[in-house]
Amino acid sequence: MIMNEKCFHIKTYGCQMNEHDSEKLAAMLAQMNYLEADRLDQADLIILNTCCVRENAELKVYGNLGEMKHLKEKNPDLILAICGCMMQQNHVVEKIRKSYPFVDLVFGTHNLHRFPELLVNAQSMEGLLVEVWDNEEEIAEDLPVERKYVSKAFVNIMYGCNNFCSYCIVPYTRGRERSREPEKILEEIHQLAAQGTVEVTLLGQNVNSYGKTLGEKVDFADLLYLIHGVPGIQRIRFMTSHPADFSEKLMEAMANLKKVCNHLHLPVQAGSNRILKEMNRKYTRETYLDKVQKLKSKIPGIAITTDIIVGFPGETDEDFEDTLTLVKAVGYDAAFTFLYSVRTGTPAAEMKNQVADEDKMRRFNQLVAAVNEMGLANNQRIMGETLSVLVEGISKNNPDRLTGRTETHKLVNFAGKKEWIGRIVPVTITDAKTFSLLGVCPLEDDDV
Ligand code: SAH
Ligand code: SF4
Ligand code: F3S
Repeated sequence: MIMNEKCFHIKTYGCQMNEHDSEKLAAMLAQMNYLEADRLDQADLIILNTCCVRENAELKVYGNLGEMKHLKEKNPDLILAICGCMMQQNHVVEKIRKSYPFVDLVFGTHNLHRFPELLVNAQSMEGLLVEVWDNEEEIAEDLPVERKYVSKAFVNIMYGCNNFCSYCIVPYTRGRERSREPEKILEEIHQLAAQGTVEVTLLGQNVNSYGKTLGEKVDFADLLYLIHGVPGIQRIRFMTSHPADFSEKLMEAMANLKKVCNHLHLPVQAGSNRILKEMNRKYTRETYLDKVQKLKSKIPGIAITTDIIVGFPGETDEDFEDTLTLVKAVGYDAAFTFLYSVRTGTPAAEMKNQVADEDKMRRFNQLVAAVNEMGLANNQRIMGETLSVLVEGISKNNPDRLTGRTETHKLVNFAGKKEWIGRIVPVTITDAKTFSLLGVCPLEDDDV
């Protein structure tokens, strides 16, 4: 590291939306001649990009703030900034003012583009600078992005959410739904392809309602066709899809467009119609299962993953049984399972019939066991198949192996050359575990 250069470290919590925001912050800092530090104690600037979707996420941030206090004591010139979804809640900002007076800068999700100016101001003043906007302004286009990988990239297609699922804080922290102009999205993807990106993941809280704020001139399926035409892009992924808005037109697009990956993340949240209604999810178990059936018949081999909440207020053992039977009927490849967490300001937080912790835990463990069993069985089913894998890097657990993802988003570890990183190679699956696969690449070096 060069002396006198300033270094930054960003800790990111939460979803891909936050990860991508951190990539934008890193790029703004690179333009300000900051270098990235691997370790917290090497940094002159630390940013915590926070999440508040569940209580655990918030507790982690408060835990880390304790550690920051020691770092500030050791290095009084250290600048500590906090941003992200937690900061969009007044009570959190008040708590930081009162209990963590060593923080220098607080900003929110709607004014990320103002960060360079805010940082300069925070550096030149004593005490805490807070700038959080309640509402989104225009979408800030042309922000630089420092991407983690060359071969794959996140691309925002829309921001915010209008669904107001009764348990969820996101509509309050990310604001109302707004879509980016298709021309801007395509411009970004063309640039990415020119730099060597082969896989794009389109990001939005509910990509299926893409275009609604653009006067319906283009919907999500149309956007997929447009992106499919970008030379150099070989894989298209997207998240997240809301089941209520998942249309037949989109199913057709997925089936027709070979670059769109054979994978759909379709959060179901619960299997009981009564709970789905209380959650304000706007679909039933039957319509969800019907869409899954159609998808499976139109797109053979498609992998389906989901999110499930256990212990939503009023959930009975019978309701939970409905979740278990739905999970088995779909045969998910993987599922993110969550214990319901009360979020202040959401309708579900006011519901009187909260579920006892021991009931939640018992159901949670049962669900995780069912999901894992199914994931393993699905993985075992593809043993012996040769699949195309985008090589992402060296395996964390075994430096002699490469790691990559199949089109179905399964993680595969296999022996190969470092030079293959960033390319798509064929891999024959030789062993299956619950969360990953082992394989061998049948090609010689020169063929790849
Ligand atoms: N926009 C996406 C992701 C939202 S947050 C979507 O609609 O699917 C990711 C997941 O967190 C949700 O799918 C849900 O399963 C979970 N989640 C959100 N709020 C929660 C809460 N209060 N308690 C527990 N899990 C929650
Ligand atoms: Fe939250 Fe529902 Fe919006 Fe997803 S669709 S972000 S779960 S309110
Ligand atoms: Fe994402 Fe967490 Fe915000 S899940 S949108 S970072 S509340």
